[in-house]
Amino acid sequence: MSDFFSNKTYVYALSLCLSATSLWYLMNMRQRKKKKSITINSTETYFAVRNSSWFSLDKLGFRRTESDGSDITKKTQTENKSSSEGVKHDHPEGPNIGFESNPSWLSTPRANRKIFISSSTSNNNINDATQTNKLIVVMVGLPGRGKTYIARKVARYLRWIGFRTRAFTLAKYRLDKFGTKTADFFDPSCEGNYQQRVKLMLDALDDSLRYLSRGGDIAILDGSNCTIDRRQLIRDRVAKEENHELLFIESLGGVDDELTEKQLEELSNSPDFLDKEDYKKRMQYYRTTYESLADNEGSFIKVSNYGRDIILHEIHGFLRSKIVSFVMNLHTESRPLFLCRHGESEFNAINLIGGDCGLSEKGVAFSKALTEYMMAEELTESESKELVIWTSTMRRAKETVVPFKGRCNRLLEWRALREIEAGICDGLSYDQIKELFPEEFQVRSQDKLRYRYPRGESYIDVINRLEPIIFEIERQKEPLMIIAHQAVLRCLYAYFLDLPLEEAPYLSIPLHTLIRLDLKPYGCREKRLRICMEGYA
Ligand code: F6P
Repeated sequence: MSDFFSNKTYVYALSLCLSATSLWYLMNMRQRKKKKSITINSTETYFAVRNSSWFSLDKLGFRRTESDGSDITKKTQTENKSSSEGVKHDHPEGPNIGFESNPSWLSTPRANRKIFISSSTSNNNINDATQTNKLIVVMVGLPGRGKTYIARKVARYLRWIGFRTRAFTLAKYRLDKFGTKTADFFDPSCEGNYQQRVKLMLDALDDSLRYLSRGGDIAILDGSNCTIDRRQLIRDRVAKEENHELLFIESLGGVDDELTEKQLEELSNSPDFLDKEDYKKRMQYYRTTYESLADNEGSFIKVSNYGRDIILHEIHGFLRSKIVSFVMNLHTESRPLFLCRHGESEFNAINLIGGDCGLSEKGVAFSKALTEYMMAEELTESESKELVIWTSTMRRAKETVVPFKGRCNRLLEWRALREIEAGICDGLSYDQIKELFPEEFQVRSQDKLRYRYPRGESYIDVINRLEPIIFEIERQKEPLMIIAHQAVLRCLYAYFLDLPLEEAPYLSIPLHTLIRLDLKPYGCREKRLRICMEGYA
């Protein structure tokens, strides 16, 4: 899948897809994830485990703190953690789970789910996602054509921009009910089996509709849905609901529509297939009845040739345009992403927020230590030649990358990566804010995600301006390091780890700590390294 979703995208109706990248926003959620912080001190590696439990952020140790010293335990090797394997994936809506998994989430009263709440003094608008129509995205395609990959990524993205979204994967329903089935179960001439499969699809569809009726905004029905008849069943069922819209996403294979040996190998590891032969036989059955989406089937996106060709049909409106723009940037190549705050700034050293000052002496030492570590230890020779670095346009971030100049592939400055704008509180300490603006301090502590500093920004505002950055990161195929700021990195981290936005303002992104995320088709692995400098504690 090396060229999956690359540049030369062939688009019908391109004008429809790039429309709305502006107004709007988000919402709600909760929970946590088991994390490991790892410290590197020259030759030694340290790590700290923080257990977390959902809903009780205060108890997690994820509150804003610059010091990791108290919970660091010596260990001899680096600890890695995967966000998709081994760790319970805690987002209440995903990924790829059946309806039954999180009933408590679904009972959240709709009235509580405002998507843009301002501070009492900043006079913002309040939007409510519940005013919009419900959307059901229906995946279409042969087995092994990346449907689940697209469904999961789209779901994660939509959650991050504030839509309650969940993918309902038919394979999971089937595996839960029948276990792994041989290819003959998919023989279209066997009426009994066919009816069982239709029933599973309708069950998943009913769950999707129930999810939407209880507060979800978007449901993704992730199955093959390979025939016109079957899609008509979906249309008929959805037509009974008020204000529900459909969008089909068809994922086709490469030009010859054959999978590579590597892809076959990966598929045969899935619990859904016995082995390669079983997969091939099932494919034959599907091919005998497969019908690609036709123009009279309403709104759809067809992705073929691993993303090089995209056909859009009847794509109207804000949400569909967003989904199209996102899908156009996807690819499945693995690559590392490094997130790191700038070195300690002069303001950090005296506990002031905001400003645009330069690095302290310690910060300068960090920038050198980080460069040495990255180029000499973390990256292979070819990776360091390819390394792309993005910074914000703020002094402390730009100064941190100075030692990388001439040693990496490209350095790029992004205004969108600037730290959250603290408005009237810029340049103050938290104690001073509490004293001078007690009401602001109080309101922020009640709803840090949505609170907007007077003449400044909220975390939601930061997420909005980071959206193009997410598209660019998705598109990126080279190793990438982002040197930015606490609030900005919290928001990016929440996206990649699919964490509820409510948690984003409290995530631990300490100074002088390098976070490595290995982005894989399904999830990412995380490694944290604390960079220590000689002469500094
Ligand atoms: O203190 C460093 C800093 O980057 C400030 O400039 C910024 O206002 C703050 O962190 C964001 O963190 P919080 O949202 O927890 O106040």
